[in-house]
Amino acid sequence: MREERKLIPAARPIIGDEEREAVDRVLRSGMMAQGPEVKAFEEEFSEFVGGRHCIAVNSGTSALHLSFLAAGLQPGDEVIVPSFSFAATANSVVLAGGVPVFGDIDPKTFNLDPEHAESLITPRTKGIMPVHLYGHIADMDAFEALGKKYGITIFEDAAQAHLASLNGRMAGEWGTVASFSFYPTKNMTSGEGGMIVTGDEGIDRLARMLRNQGGLIRYQNEIVGLNNRMTDIHAAIGRVQVTKVKAWTDQRRKNARYLDEHLQGVITPYLRAGSEHSYHQYTIRLKGASSEVRDQAIADIKAGGVGCDVYYPTPIHRLPSFALTLDLPVTEEIVKEVISIPVHPSLTADELDQVVTVVNDVVKRI
Ligand SMILES: Cc1ncc(COP(=O)(O)O)c(C=O)c1O
Repeated sequence: MREERKLIPAARPIIGDEEREAVDRVLRSGMMAQGPEVKAFEEEFSEFVGGRHCIAVNSGTSALHLSFLAAGLQPGDEVIVPSFSFAATANSVVLAGGVPVFGDIDPKTFNLDPEHAESLITPRTKGIMPVHLYGHIADMDAFEALGKKYGITIFEDAAQAHLASLNGRMAGEWGTVASFSFYPTKNMTSGEGGMIVTGDEGIDRLARMLRNQGGLIRYQNEIVGLNNRMTDIHAAIGRVQVTKVKAWTDQRRKNARYLDEHLQGVITPYLRAGSEHSYHQYTIRLKGASSEVRDQAIADIKAGGVGCDVYYPTPIHRLPSFALTLDLPVTEEIVKEVISIPVHPSLTADELDQVVTVVNDVVKRI
């Protein structure tokens, strides 16, 4: 066994002097709640989503929740979502009064399988929300066609997909409404935060009201709403990160190419033709592994100084919060086999080499 070294973290948020100065500027202004920084952040982020309307909120989960409310989800409406995702994907449907219906995934992309999703459509289906898992855009052309065929709304959970694109269309430019997250480990952060993105004027207006007690003008509440506002402190951090995320994404893509070329004995991330992956995660697959073998591999990779993790070890439908028994065979297979390894832009060449050497060593011994 190689000598234990300092762990290369699985993710490493990059916060520099510019972010600190931006926060300081807001604190010194004395205006900390939603204000001019939030407005500017929304305008600046909209450049990544084809100029669509952007509504900043306090988390990716709030973005999802409000996007369902603003799109008019009614109690009992069904929304088809993948089970192989973060719990917020399904939680937000429930919080908006709907029912998540869990679909299986494509074994190559790990994203919601359009054919399986179509088989789940019922008269109660209001929408489908694919997740661009790990930063690889789902089959949005197929989902767009389903939306038209059945007259249902297509949402995007783009929490992990800043700057990802398919056939030149960005994540956030496909669905009627899309949601991004700025959680610290995401490809860009605002500390905590989220963005609702839509091309629909009515949804834009409703989302702006819903985040602010149901009103656009102080004390003139038009509907019942929440306080899901982003603060100017968080927006100021996000505005700095907007200027850097393109270069960081390019570096993630370079790191991913290096890993693609040098890893052996594992299935490396699939890249669909016409797709630009944002590599929020670089997720390898140990084909045919049991979860015990995979978990031992994780322990060995960590012992070699390389941080890694499983996103996600339990499909959402089997979490205690849902506790459903469903037949999702691809999800059940993939959940045992995946490991996400470091791909973040601050990896040094030596660290990237260490990732390759350690992973290849561990996989050879399986
Ligand atoms: C796929 C997915 N959906 C939703 C969320 C929720 O975002 P947040 O943590 O900002 O609430 C996340 C991020 O954590 C996510 O990865």
